[in-house]
Amino acid sequence: MSTSQEKVQKYLMNTTQWMPMILVKGEGAYVWDEEGKKYLDFVGGWGVCCLGHCHPVMVDALTKQARILTQASPHTNDPQKLNLAELLVNNSCFNRVFFQNSGAEANEGAVKLARRYGKLKLNGAYEVITANMSFHGRTLAMTAATGQPHYQDAYQPLPVGFKNVPFNDIEAIKAATTPQTCAVMVEPIQGEGGVNIPDDNYLKQIRQWCDEKGILLILDEIWTGIGRCGTLFAYQQYGVEPDIMTLAKGMGSGIPIAAFLAKESCSVFVPGDHGSTYGGNPLMCAVGYAVLKYVIDKNVPANAREVGRYLLESLKRLQKKYSFIKDARGRGMMAALEFDRELAQDVLIACLKEGVWINRVQPNTIRLMPALIIGKKEVDEAISVLDKVLSEIKLN
Ligand SMILES: Cc1ncc(COP(=O)(O)O)c(C=O)c1O
Repeated sequence: MSTSQEKVQKYLMNTTQWMPMILVKGEGAYVWDEEGKKYLDFVGGWGVCCLGHCHPVMVDALTKQARILTQASPHTNDPQKLNLAELLVNNSCFNRVFFQNSGAEANEGAVKLARRYGKLKLNGAYEVITANMSFHGRTLAMTAATGQPHYQDAYQPLPVGFKNVPFNDIEAIKAATTPQTCAVMVEPIQGEGGVNIPDDNYLKQIRQWCDEKGILLILDEIWTGIGRCGTLFAYQQYGVEPDIMTLAKGMGSGIPIAAFLAKESCSVFVPGDHGSTYGGNPLMCAVGYAVLKYVIDKNVPANAREVGRYLLESLKRLQKKYSFIKDARGRGMMAALEFDRELAQDVLIACLKEGVWINRVQPNTIRLMPALIIGKKEVDEAISVLDKVLSEIKLN
């Protein structure tokens, strides 16, 4: 066992099945481990590094701002925060922004805003309807929001106020709605649930239902936002406008920054209602601004769309070739292969040996979430390794 692996065993909490490699460097679509082995990275910092690892735009903004001002105070503002808020508002359907540090925090903020709205405008309604197989984060409230019992069971009793219902089922949302409901919160496409793409009219139906009932629609775009699905935000593909949207991951392309955005009509916070020590600090906002500006100016979502289509076609070809592949699906740079049995871990380990890093998102499903700036060459490299691995896999 290497010294690093000994430290893993000795010092870290045992919270996950750690990957076998210790990473020491990243550049573009590749990472290197401490033994010098290079991997084509189709995990992308868990969907974070939208511009790849250590993109010069991110690094320049970070290092420049680090010499100027890194942390102000939750009660002050600075040009970095204001410029990023303006850029987000000018490129979305929202009017106001609150910055946070992580996805779970952004979702907490969004739910607090919805509850505040419920208190003021809906006779104290506080319940939020979410979907089974969703993922909204690891805080206690977001564990309750996340409709996957295996994340919840160890922490019962969970905070009240969340109802998990089947995904892609408008009737389930209607049936769960009561006078206590203040919002429906869903991911446009479920990421951690296995890249689950709903019917085209699902979000429209939810929007109509929310309008009918006067309740809010919150979209968790922490995975799907910042170009990953081929448009800057996924809601833009569905002809709906949510009342509140949450963002994280791709916002900083490798540094922690998150936000929730809201329409004017539901921006009901008043001073003292919400806050965050680090949220919206000048360092993170300088990077967030540089990354988002680059994503917009260079039309990075278009590349995600085009290369993502090529990735999906390539996965569909593998599906035709291997009968144990049940489904190949994706949208932009978020794709999955579902097997008819629990092969995902074996496929992941075999791919790692061949120098390609993918994600096991469910026991029977692998997920591919590369940087949005990769080309067809990197897709070909990953697919040829996957093809080799699948041809050699031992079926149980
Ligand atoms: C859709 C979605 N929401 C929220 C989160 C939580 O984000 P974070 O891990 O930054 O708290 C994740 C994380 O994977 C996610 O995929």
